Amino acid sequence: MKVVTTGAELKSALTVRAGRRVLVPTMGALHHGHLELVKMARSAAGPDGTVVVSIFVNPIQFDRASDLDAYPRPLESDLAKCLAAGVDVVFAPDVGSMYFPDRSITVTENHLSSGLCGAARPGHFDGVCTVVLKLFLLSGCDAAVFGEKDFQQLAVIRRMVRDLDVPVEIIECPTVREDDGLAMSSRNVRLTPDQRKDAPRIHRSLVEASTLENPAAILAAARTGIESSPMARIDYLSLVDAETLQPVTDLQRPTVLSTAVFYGDVRLIDHVATRHTEPS
Ligand code: PAJ
Repeated sequence: MKVVTTGAELKSALTVRAGRRVLVPTMGALHHGHLELVKMARSAAGPDGTVVVSIFVNPIQFDRASDLDAYPRPLESDLAKCLAAGVDVVFAPDVGSMYFPDRSITVTENHLSSGLCGAARPGHFDGVCTVVLKLFLLSGCDAAVFGEKDFQQLAVIRRMVRDLDVPVEIIECPTVREDDGLAMSSRNVRLTPDQRKDAPRIHRSLVEASTLENPAAILAAARTGIESSPMARIDYLSLVDAETLQPVTDLQRPTVLSTAVFYGDVRLIDHVATRHTEPS
């Protein structure tokens, strides 16, 4: 496994390799969810192909300096996990080698990113699109794997690829959960033991509410389930069309019940699909 820290090093690490090149973009603090993405990347790349994992805590997608500062950065153990998972190349640049101090170009998505996490975190998806496009260009990847856990991020990236004719196949990995249902996240390690014990209520509340028949009842039940813990504070809770990500008032198309919840200053996101009835 090669570990490189600049775009030039990445290019020369990749020139000697043939076969399909598949990228897994991450911000590190790798957990089993990330490693599932790596597995999918390996099967998409094939035995002769190349799996590249990028590890970069991207400052321009953080809206709160405290979140950026507190983001875990266990590089040594991340590299050990990549080695064990059969990754070929790790790209772990520093901020200075990714961004010019006077950088002035940003990729902006104007529709899918307006609600949910986009409304709660202004500029977040501009930062994501900009870094993901740079990582695609630097790695020259044929395909890239993203988690369904961040379903708005996935939708925004698919839209970027479609609208800008980016020649990269987007591969989707289902959400990986802890045994108690909590979606795996690099932020989970920042929960106190009490918060960690309580946090599975997010998924449980979404699942229970999603079986109800009408949007108002679904939203009310999910809110009650989450807010019945004094530790949990809802940042947003929305029922949106699975494709347009716009809020819905009926269940005639596939919809997604989506939330972001603060435990202290740790923000966790999750979502579930709801049942829908096709119009007759
Ligand atoms: P990060 O949060 O590190 O996530 C990297 C990838 O792992 C994303 O595609 C995310 O959806 C996926 N992932 C995280 N937890 C998962 C889980 N429990 N199950 C399945 N997939 C999971 O998302 C980012 O980094 C950044 O925004 C990035 C795309 C790297 C751009 O900076």
